[in-house]
Amino acid sequence: MMLKVQNLEVLYQRSILGVADISIDVPKGHIVAIIGANGAGKSTTLRAISGFIGLDDARVSNGSILFDGRRIENRFPHQIAHLGIALVPERDKVFPNLTVQENLEIVASRTGHAERRHLEASIYDSFPRLAALKAKLAGLLSGGERQMLAIGSAIMCSPTLLLIDELSLGLAPVIVDDIAERLMRIRDELRLTILLVEQSTAIALRMADYAYVFENGRVVLSGSTDELRNDSSIQDAYLGTSGGEQRNYRHVRNRAQGPAK
Ligand SMILES: Nc1ncnc2c1ncn2[C@@H]1O[C@H](COP(=O)(O)OP(=O)(O)OP(=O)(O)O)[C@@H](O)[C@H]1O
Ligand SMILES: [Mg+2]
Repeated sequence: MMLKVQNLEVLYQRSILGVADISIDVPKGHIVAIIGANGAGKSTTLRAISGFIGLDDARVSNGSILFDGRRIENRFPHQIAHLGIALVPERDKVFPNLTVQENLEIVASRTGHAERRHLEASIYDSFPRLAALKAKLAGLLSGGERQMLAIGSAIMCSPTLLLIDELSLGLAPVIVDDIAERLMRIRDELRLTILLVEQSTAIALRMADYAYVFENGRVVLSGSTDELRNDSSIQDAYLGTSGGEQRNYRHVRNRAQGPAK
């Protein structure tokens, strides 16, 4: 297992519960999705894994995060990046006053010059739109272009595990499809493992092999995406297709478990 999160609890400002009890497994080479409504704890989980919760005055107060068998909870973001985990954040994705090229160049490296040039070439090859915009200020990019650049910046860290917080947020479906397809290509090329947070269930189920549904800082359901796609009662209860406020999770609660080892 590449990433193992066990009984994760995060407190903001020493007292506000961010997530209560999250356990997720991400096997090497897979794409795993986290689905859930606003405030469910999706970003908190990704920021705990990548170390950024420290910047939000939060800490892992219980549980553990294991990456390649090593405990990484409550380490600094640069230490975690150095181990090979990169985050595409939900907000503040790019440096708006730097050009596209400068945004890629400014990323701290955990690899040598040759590897950086290789990664840069792969990024421009997978996202030719960025190549055409090299000299443009990132602050002037469209939402889709900004998302591509954010993915590119994360990939410049040379990660083995890529964390993506809301691939589709605020983007038109046709743009999301395009980015998703290109992301899958570069993922194959660089053999990335991906943990993806999505409010769009459709996108999560399409891209991932396995998904976890979060509710109020807990995992209420998990399964292979094939399983989740084909189960209509689950579709209605969890995946937002019914639109009802009254959701009943009891009948499937004990199905919340990790992927097969
Ligand atoms: N900086 C913060 N200070 C205090 N509480 C926070 C902070 N950030 C998040 N929280 C709380 O932690 C809980 C989980 O929030 P989180 O942002 O992880 O949810 P999310 O699933 O990413 O939601 P969204 O879909 O809106 O992005 C929420 O109750 C939220 O209010
Ligand atoms: Mg979020």
